[in-house]
Amino acid sequence: MTHVVITGAQGFVGRVLVKRLLSDGLGGRAVSKLTLLDIAFDAPHADRRVVQLAGSIAHADVRVLAYSTPVDAVFHLASIPGGAAEKNYALGRSINLDATLGLLEDLRGHTRPPRFVFASTVAVYGEQLPATVDEATLPAPALSYGAHKLMGEALVADASRLGWVQGCSLRLPGVVARPGDGAGMMSAFMSQLFWRLSAGEPITVPVSPEGVAWWISVEQCVDNLLHAATVDPERFNARRSYQMPVLRLSIAEVVDALAARFGDDRKALVTYAPDPFIERLFATYPPLLTPEAERLGLRHDGNVDQLITRAMSG
Ligand SMILES: NC(=O)c1ccc[n+]([C@@H]2O[C@H](COP(=O)([O-])OP(=O)(O)OC[C@H]3O[C@@H](n4cnc5c(N)ncnc54)[C@H](O)[C@@H]3O)[C@@H](O)[C@H]2O)c1
Repeated sequence: MTHVVITGAQGFVGRVLVKRLLSDGLGGRAVSKLTLLDIAFDAPHADRRVVQLAGSIAHADVRVLAYSTPVDAVFHLASIPGGAAEKNYALGRSINLDATLGLLEDLRGHTRPPRFVFASTVAVYGEQLPATVDEATLPAPALSYGAHKLMGEALVADASRLGWVQGCSLRLPGVVARPGDGAGMMSAFMSQLFWRLSAGEPITVPVSPEGVAWWISVEQCVDNLLHAATVDPERFNARRSYQMPVLRLSIAEVVDALAARFGDDRKALVTYAPDPFIERLFATYPPLLTPEAERLGLRHDGNVDQLITRAMSG
């Protein structure tokens, strides 16, 4: 009997994680019950192992229901994105910080502390990045979203010390390729590049071709989340927090690789209209060194071709 709980299960990463857990299990064991938490669900799930709980993780009764049978692993993915959290501080705090604490505290006293994997973010580093970011770089969040995620990392480490969970936080970079129009997200162009160019449709990107970003495919991201839930917890660092390895690629490198895959004419479909604000936020990333994360077994996509294949297979 393996019971896994996912918060934010209807989201971009959550949907791929659900598929993988149902098909491959967790750590070589089939999942017998998969409890999905989200505000609402599009449709009932066809798999009888799935229990959908519609409601907010801010509410204790929703969390208690999710934990009503013993839990082996929790993947905590639900969050209010940075822009929305800036516009509504109370909402951001309640989901990105308070609910994370609630999810951890509600696991106190369970006979066997479950694995707890928390989706943190590169937003913890803030805006003034050093010439190279590595695992000793001190976080300096520039948004409440990053600040609350950083506090969440500390809570996961403390709950692990207290023996409530066997926890680990992973800092996610920009994950591609999110389907749809990105719902107004400023980084939406990173995902839309994949879908538009593969479909032969034009796209205007708000950054220059030389702009450099950190990339990971959604499949690789899910591989890393699953690894964090199954690796020997004795191997975790004291912070219980890791930066996911990334591929550092310019926009032009990704466009060239998409053109090599889908047709050379695709390059002419891209119009560059750099917006200095978006360029600074999403296309000026320095090298990122992650040897500690790689020693734990976390990985990036390997090369841009794999990135494309795995970004579009979710
Ligand atoms: N996708 C990325 O590029 C990226 C980058 C850095 C960090 N992250 C983090 O990874 C996690 C997953 O990212 P994603 O892209 O799948 O996010 P997403 O926005 O697509 O999905 C988040 C899900 O959380 C749900 N949710 C929001 N408030 C909730 C609440 N009160 N109760 C229950 N569910 C709630 C939403 O309905 C949504 O389905 C998030 O925590 C995010 O902060 C993602």
